[in-house]
Amino acid sequence: MKLFLDTADVAQIREVRSWGILDGVTTNPTHVSKTGRPAADVYREICSLVDGPVSLETLSLNADEIVAEGRKLATFHKNVVVKVPLMKEGLKAVKALSSEGIKTNVTVTFSPLQAMLAAKCGATYISPFVGRLDAVGHVGMDLVRQIKTIYSNYGFETEIIVAAVRHPIHVLEAALAGAEICTMSFDVLQQLYQHPLTDIGIEMFLNDWKKVPAS
Ligand code: E4P
Repeated sequence: MKLFLDTADVAQIREVRSWGILDGVTTNPTHVSKTGRPAADVYREICSLVDGPVSLETLSLNADEIVAEGRKLATFHKNVVVKVPLMKEGLKAVKALSSEGIKTNVTVTFSPLQAMLAAKCGATYISPFVGRLDAVGHVGMDLVRQIKTIYSNYGFETEIIVAAVRHPIHVLEAALAGAEICTMSFDVLQQLYQHPLTDIGIEMFLNDWKKVPAS
């Protein structure tokens, strides 16, 4: 499974890139606002750091304007994926952008039928927000499984980016469900390699090594 970082924080991106496991980045307006920097500067820097897809989100609510915004975002770098919210005007824009060969990530997705429409419009990626569904009493990962089944039933090539991930169990379940990608915060990504028994095991080996006589 590909692992994306869900952030606009370039320090976090640099750090995870150094681990050798960074496959891509997803940003959103909230992440960009937290940087306190002009969006164009942040986007250029992120694209220069990441060797993989970088999702940049549109803000317009009308199809023609989303397309214009998407075309502009796509000029930042060849790896840019235009992130478009799942709404009627968004779907129209996704259809137009995909026919121009511009990659799209359809975001803020909460139902399998929304995901089917996005795939029919040629979306490159679909982003179901599992954590936000969990927060209102649904099983977010059920949505991922349903989308996976629908896409497999009809041979849609749209890839699933499991999003709004809150903890490592979400990542595990996404992998078990066969989602192609999971995007997560720096905190969740860090938790994937940490294990208290690993720390205890390393400490034990280092202590025992001190008892080995010098040659
Ligand atoms: C994914 O692409 C989104 O940026 C992200 O996961 C949004 O979810 P959250 O704000 O609920 O974390």
